[in-house]
Amino acid sequence: MAILITGGSGFIGAHTSVEMLNAGYDIVLFDNFSNSQPEVLRRIYEVTNKSFRFYELDMRDKQLLEKVFSENSIDAVIHLAGLKAVGESIHLPLKYYDNNINGTVTLIEMMKKYEVKKLVFSSSATVYGLQTQVPISEDNLLEATNPYGRSKLMIEEILRDLYVSDKEWSIIPLRYFNPVGAHQSGRLGEYPNGTPNNLTPFITQVAAGKLREMNIYGNNYPTPDGTGIRDYLHVTDLALGHVKAIEKVMSGATGVNAYNLGTGRGYSVLEMIHTFERITGKIIPYSIVERRPGDVAVCYADPTKAKVELGWEAHKGIEEMCIDAWRWQVNNPNGYESSFELERSWV
Ligand code: WQD
Repeated sequence: MAILITGGSGFIGAHTSVEMLNAGYDIVLFDNFSNSQPEVLRRIYEVTNKSFRFYELDMRDKQLLEKVFSENSIDAVIHLAGLKAVGESIHLPLKYYDNNINGTVTLIEMMKKYEVKKLVFSSSATVYGLQTQVPISEDNLLEATNPYGRSKLMIEEILRDLYVSDKEWSIIPLRYFNPVGAHQSGRLGEYPNGTPNNLTPFITQVAAGKLREMNIYGNNYPTPDGTGIRDYLHVTDLALGHVKAIEKVMSGATGVNAYNLGTGRGYSVLEMIHTFERITGKIIPYSIVERRPGDVAVCYADPTKAKVELGWEAHKGIEEMCIDAWRWQVNNPNGYESSFELERSWV
């Protein structure tokens, strides 16, 4: 029996695969490498010394997807595969709806065919939209403000309708706040294609001299130092949240139960920059520019429900997030460089 992890070679996927292997699970991964590299698979093996099966495929390819289910006895699915850049989604909405929604529907139909009705879904705090009240709890109003966030919210609604149609399903959407950092080994981390959209990979590339300076998107927000506040969460803590969610869906509980994965503590952009300067001993030059459309002033989680019902809470603080992100940057200035060639039958 095994757990299927879709998008298993991505930033979240790789760290989740490591923690699932460390927890003793047999795992099967698939990925289309649209935002990751085959070298990640070798690194997962390197840091765990445990093998797993991998399939290179796009989840919309029904024929290849069926091979995964027919060749493996899948217990449950951790569904991470998806496009996730807010800005890109505004310019290419159909790409996001086709990949994220049609891809998920294809996956769920295959799960139904093979009687696999346990699902942990990678959702996002973006489903809370332009919230005012913080900390944000799971019963806050859901309202997406961009195609990426709408795709996540629509998938949550599809999953709720699926459960209404078949009460055997056990589904946990995990609403990520801001995943950052890297595996403590320095061998796995975030390596975005092109210029980073998110704050911390941008900061580390400025600190490493790959980029000239930071642009701070607005310092006139109603916050103590005027810059945006977010709930940054170490990617390893996030990965361990998936292990707890799998335990829950495997326990026999049915229904659709969403959980916030956040620390419950917010940090501003300037606090993050100053923390990185302290950690790295580098000066992070920045300019204050216009606010970024769609940004909210303050966003951080109420993580109580996950603590009470999943037995999960974040343990790594902001300093460890920055230290691990910096170690990854220093050890891998050009990301996952490797001559590793994926063999089709790689196990
Ligand atoms: C954080 C803060 C920016 C870059 C997004 C998605 C979310 C999730 C994480 C996928 C904000 C400021 C950033 C920069 C800056 N993605 N900033 N200069 O927007 O909170 O969340 O990424 O799951 O769904 O919405 O993250 O890292 O882009 O921004 O000043 O160059 O840093 O304004 O206040 P965000 P972020």
